[in-house]
Amino acid sequence: MPTRQRIAQEIEREGGWVPFARYMQLALHEPGLGYYASGARKFGPQGDFVTAPELGDLFGRTLARQLAGVPGGRVLELGAGSGALAETLLKALDCEYLILETSAELRERQQARLGNKITHTENLPTDFRGVIIANEVADAMPVHLVHWTANGILERGVSAQFQWVDKPATGPLLEHAGEIQVPIPYVSEINLLARPWMRSLVHALGSGAIFVIDYGFPRHEYYHPQRSAGTLMCHYRHQAHADPFARPGEEDITAHVDFSALAQAALEAGAEVLGYATQAQFLVNCGITDVLGEANLENALHYAPIAAQAQKLLSPSEMGELFKVLAVGKGLDAPLLGFSSGNRAHTL
Ligand SMILES: C[S@@+](CC[C@H](N)C(=O)[O-])C[C@H]1O[C@@H](n2cnc3c(N)ncnc32)[C@H](O)[C@@H]1O
Repeated sequence: MPTRQRIAQEIEREGGWVPFARYMQLALHEPGLGYYASGARKFGPQGDFVTAPELGDLFGRTLARQLAGVPGGRVLELGAGSGALAETLLKALDCEYLILETSAELRERQQARLGNKITHTENLPTDFRGVIIANEVADAMPVHLVHWTANGILERGVSAQFQWVDKPATGPLLEHAGEIQVPIPYVSEINLLARPWMRSLVHALGSGAIFVIDYGFPRHEYYHPQRSAGTLMCHYRHQAHADPFARPGEEDITAHVDFSALAQAALEAGAEVLGYATQAQFLVNCGITDVLGEANLENALHYAPIAAQAQKLLSPSEMGELFKVLAVGKGLDAPLLGFSSGNRAHTL
């Protein structure tokens, strides 16, 4: 039975209406059903989207310069995708490498690529000393949709016919939505899972740093009056569009990340905010130009692809400005290299 029909059946079974977050969970992560749980190619030129580690090893080699400065000797990567970042970091760092991956299909791919160089863990460790990294993981978390209207705050859900149906918002969603000042009418997302996720990461950390890298904004930009249709975005074969019902289970659905919410949750859980910067600023601070300088400048065949990666990672019209790096942590004395200039933590 096609995935679309199976998701419709599931919505029917759950009463004919589900919150958008439940729809996103089914369409992305549900074992045997969702996009990340299925065999779809997903990453790279033949897939649906390209992440920074999928461009090549420039991102990972530059990030490694930052990670080398964090004591602990362990890396825990969350949502490692094809394993590309792990492969690069393992070449650059002498460390124990753990991966926590929710997709069984991707765990298999990671194992096939990286073998015994990595260890999969099902649960967060306790008293972890080292670095936790999540690159483009937070944007794949199911989000709730909220419709602020003249008649109150509504929760936007999905019918079994794949149509939007609004109902009055209740509980924690209403509480969070009520704290956000927007002009009405206004539709946007709230990620109710992001805060408990960040708190659980901070609790798992004995000492070290957590890096969340993703596209997103601080809260005042996220819920900007002009962003009145939210940030929901789908990716299919390198085309971005805004219709999450186009190919349920067969394409990526994402929402931008509210970095203020993550920073606040980390503070509440007892961590410090160590830095917040655009990806471009972070990579420049980490010495991306030195890494580029290691390439063979005389050999255009070697240099051109690396220069193209740098352009994608740094350009304000590509990943340089929209992508941010947030670092939070515990027990670190020295400031982090990646935030030595242009640290925007005050804007969170
Ligand atoms: C967009 S992909 C990014 C993959 C990789 N980090 C990269 O940059 O290429 C999202 C990844 O996060 C995983 N994932 C989603 N939610 C997760 C969660 N709560 N914990 C761990 N992994 C998760 C997905 O299965 C997938 O591997």
